[in-house]
Amino acid sequence: MSTIKNVLIVGGGLMGKNIAFVASSAPEHNITVYDVREVDVAAGIRENTKQLVEAGVLTEAELEERLSRIGFTTDLDSEEVKRSDLVIEAVFENMDLKRETFAKLEARLRPDCIFCTNTSVMSPTEISQNLEHKERFAGTHFWNPGHLIPLVEVVRTEATSQETADAVMEFMTKIGKKPCLCNKDVPGFIANRLQHALWREAISIVENGIADAATVDTAIKNSFGLRLPQLAPLENSDMVGTDLTYNIHDYVLAHIEDSHRPSPLLTKMKEEGKMGFKSGEGFYKWSDEDIKKCNEDLNAYLIKMLYK
Ligand SMILES: NC(=O)c1ccc[n+]([C@@H]2O[C@H](COP(=O)([O-])OP(=O)(O)OC[C@H]3O[C@@H](n4cnc5c(N)ncnc54)[C@H](O)[C@@H]3O)[C@@H](O)[C@H]2O)c1
Repeated sequence: MSTIKNVLIVGGGLMGKNIAFVASSAPEHNITVYDVREVDVAAGIRENTKQLVEAGVLTEAELEERLSRIGFTTDLDSEEVKRSDLVIEAVFENMDLKRETFAKLEARLRPDCIFCTNTSVMSPTEISQNLEHKERFAGTHFWNPGHLIPLVEVVRTEATSQETADAVMEFMTKIGKKPCLCNKDVPGFIANRLQHALWREAISIVENGIADAATVDTAIKNSFGLRLPQLAPLENSDMVGTDLTYNIHDYVLAHIEDSHRPSPLLTKMKEEGKMGFKSGEGFYKWSDEDIKKCNEDLNAYLIKMLYK
């Protein structure tokens, strides 16, 4: 049984604020957010959780009580930083910056403090390469929006001790997440490998004129997309029979996209500056109102799925 009480979030950006909010769901946790710049963490959390309050999932009183246990500092030498039992790093996705950040933390924090990185794609093994205590390091990949998506991939490096893996899994469960242990530090961990196998095929179907983008998305939303939260691929394979799965793969896999590079269509879109929400056009055209509505609709859908 671990006794994690003081949690440090390093980096108060989009993910850091949401992780701080989630960590506060256990009443015994005190959370400190550290950033190199001033961040109004409370205002950010209030904004991000507005829809939870509107939906009646979180009361104003609960939110204020949780915010009262979330502090902020720009001082790495403060007591709030030094007392940490567990750290979750969410600074920019830059290897040198992450390594430098953990070196500074290791020099200041207790030798039994657990270190976690929220990197989306970089190797936790490489991030922890220069640490003295690699056994107390793990990846903890939260998904965006971090305050709503239940999955956290807990990634073991070869050096991560069983004790650390157990403590991190226990911590994530305690704060209401659904942690999944990834036994090998591989690019994409578990869920992004699966997600991008699907995206590669979706883009290939558009590229090859089999169907346009809207048709591909409609096909997914109205078929296996609907049942995925209830019936995932390996359960589904058992349901239809692994013999049938074998026969389907024997016939169809040879025809499915297996490129190891980003597709020519994606490359062309990148060159033309068609970056989706960022530029107003990607596979679809997006106005500012469309973008706002898409984000709000996603949050509302997740709240309905998770809490109603
Ligand atoms: N945005 C996503 O959808 C998403 C999802 C999962 C994981 N992640 C990962 O989470 C991490 C953070 O992403 P984000 O989207 O919150 O980024 P962000 O740009 O919103 O926030 C990064 C924060 O780190 C701070 N920072 C920079 N250098 C620092 C330092 N030396 N010490 C302390 N703070 C520092 C910045 O001031 C900023 O507030 C990245 O590793 C990213 O890959 C992001």
